[in-house]
Amino acid sequence: MFNTQVSEKEHDEARQGEALMLENKTEKNDARRLYIESYGCAMNFSDSEIVASIMMDMGFQTTSDYKEADVVFINTCSIRENAEQRVRNRLKEFTSVKVKNPGLIVGVLGCMAERLKAKFLEEEKLVDVVVGPDAYRDLPNLIDKVDDGNKAVNVLLSREETYADVSPVRLNSNGISAFISIMRGCDNMCSFCVVPFTRGRERSRDAYSIVKEAEDLYDQGYREVTLLGQNVDSYKWSSEDGSDSVNFAQLLERVALVSPELRVRFSTSHPKDITDEVLFTMSKYENICKYIHLPVQSGNSRILDIMNRTYDREWYKGRVDAIRRILPGCAISTDIIAGFCTETEEEHQDTLSMMDYVVYDYAYMFMYSERPGTLAAKRFEDDIPEEVKKRRLTEIVDKQQQHSHRNMLAQVGKVQKVLIDGYSKKSKNDYAGRNDLNATVIFPVDERFKPGEYVNVLVERCTTATLIGKIAE
Ligand code: 5AD
Ligand code: SF4
Repeated sequence: MFNTQVSEKEHDEARQGEALMLENKTEKNDARRLYIESYGCAMNFSDSEIVASIMMDMGFQTTSDYKEADVVFINTCSIRENAEQRVRNRLKEFTSVKVKNPGLIVGVLGCMAERLKAKFLEEEKLVDVVVGPDAYRDLPNLIDKVDDGNKAVNVLLSREETYADVSPVRLNSNGISAFISIMRGCDNMCSFCVVPFTRGRERSRDAYSIVKEAEDLYDQGYREVTLLGQNVDSYKWSSEDGSDSVNFAQLLERVALVSPELRVRFSTSHPKDITDEVLFTMSKYENICKYIHLPVQSGNSRILDIMNRTYDREWYKGRVDAIRRILPGCAISTDIIAGFCTETEEEHQDTLSMMDYVVYDYAYMFMYSERPGTLAAKRFEDDIPEEVKKRRLTEIVDKQQQHSHRNMLAQVGKVQKVLIDGYSKKSKNDYAGRNDLNATVIFPVDERFKPGEYVNVLVERCTTATLIGKIAE
């Protein structure tokens, strides 16, 4: 009894102490400003919104000018060597500010932090803090350590962390479109890819917290959400008592039901996992956008095998056929890697002929870049000469440009439902928005309609990247 009372009292004192510390912490950080810059995939941009939320809870404010910041974070990407190079160059600019202002805290977050760990602090002496993608909750501690004059590192990966309860602070938002992270990590082990090493094991976020986030966004006036995951089709969440279990098609449906006025997009789909159930759910709800990002990587079965993609050319074509059958007119985009290890000319031709088969609306195209520690780096020689990779990539890019243009032309003469994003970059007399297929549509401003509203636009002409039209009465 006595012991309990004492410990309760101690507990209360400790709690008061904690409250005081929190107050101090907030006070200490009150006038402090955070600048955060993100590189790489949408997931990184989404993570930066989690980081901003955690830092604002500590009392920080955000700033869009790094020169007036007390803490500068760079959220990094490791996917290709040139992505890392770009980050290092930018980091040099930040650390040069630190030379003049030694109080500035410079932090490296994300995939490069995870890949290089404490080595980063040796390589870049002016960096103070290194934080991996699963360790952002530890930021209050890490910043304290730095304030006490130490360097700080946390790159622990987690099997559970989904930041489900952290409300992202929307950065650089137009108030209309937002990302919702639905899962983290990747279990696929594509042989070229560093992501499973930098983002850890796959885990799915609580479905209720996802739907709640979509509802909150809708209530705040957002009209488009993009559900994000490295491999959304393997989303699988069950409640603790096992009474509720949700797969990706079911999650998509729950988010679509938030409001018919809320557009739902998602990325990325893996060809081995995308199910007919997902395609049927897409066809059932008008507000689920008819756009699928389905990375092919290569059109050749032997290359797909050594990439460890676990599907072959025929399987991929079968999935495209299913999309065409269930969702006629659905846009398909892709990722393609040119010059993977041992790729022959004939195998490269298979990629080009796959492009002819699908006629992608859009493609992200890359030269293979060997990443340390990946299965491909261990198993195969990066043996395709740079100039051959470049030439193959050029052939792929040229073909894609023709296909993009062909797909754009096919939309001319049609009336399309467009969500207005804001003014066009080129002229305040025009609005820019996107149609269901995610193509940008430009049309003259009509004061009856505001950004965030839907409007029907008759497409009159196009360039390779943009549709141009007028409001259809
Ligand atoms: N080299 C080139 N491209 C890569 N990607 C992933 N890893 C590499 C690499 N080592 C591409 C893939 C993937 C996209 C996100 O980046 O096409 O789908
Ligand atoms: Fe990388 Fe493959 Fe996972 Fe995509 S699915 S993140 S390419 S390992």
